[in-house]
Amino acid sequence: MTATEILRNEHAVILEAVGLLELHAGDVREGATLDGGFARWIVQFIREFADGTHYAKEQGVLFGLLAAHGFSVDLEPLAGLLAEHAASRRLCDAMEAAQGARDGQAFALAAQQFCGLLRRHIRTEEEVVFSAAERLLTPAEDIKAVQAFGRVVHEHDGVVIRQRHLAAIEHWQGAFEAALLVEA
Ligand SMILES: [Fe+2]
Ligand SMILES: [Fe+2]
Repeated sequence: MTATEILRNEHAVILEAVGLLELHAGDVREGATLDGGFARWIVQFIREFADGTHYAKEQGVLFGLLAAHGFSVDLEPLAGLLAEHAASRRLCDAMEAAQGARDGQAFALAAQQFCGLLRRHIRTEEEVVFSAAERLLTPAEDIKAVQAFGRVVHEHDGVVIRQRHLAAIEHWQGAFEAALLVEA
């Protein structure tokens, strides 16, 4: 896989989790009780998978390689993407605090903001930055990026984390589907 194929693949996983979060946040906004287990998992997913391994590959590797091709982390679009990574961390902290305070409405509000932000962010990355990387990076730079990604995965125990969170996504999809069947 190329560097951007790896990152696009991770976006697909993140969007699965965002879909679950949107679903549950919408239910909570309409009066359902916040599921504490789900809330704790999604915070952990964002920290370990989205931030710990995915943002780390973008910020620590890809964006740096693009600097050799006229991009700068101080200018758009990379500056905006870095600011969105920081904003998503703050919304994750807000979700955790709301969960700790058993405040379902505050959790759902932060969650909905997080989901909107991530959907826009992923669209910009894929349509603007990754497509530029696909045009501009040399084969040698791509190999360098993939090798550096491997080091990020190794440092963060990324293989285990990915497997654990993929299993969790499947679990919560099943749990929410089962709840819908009970309601129907
Ligand atoms: Fe990103
Ligand atoms: Fe991304």
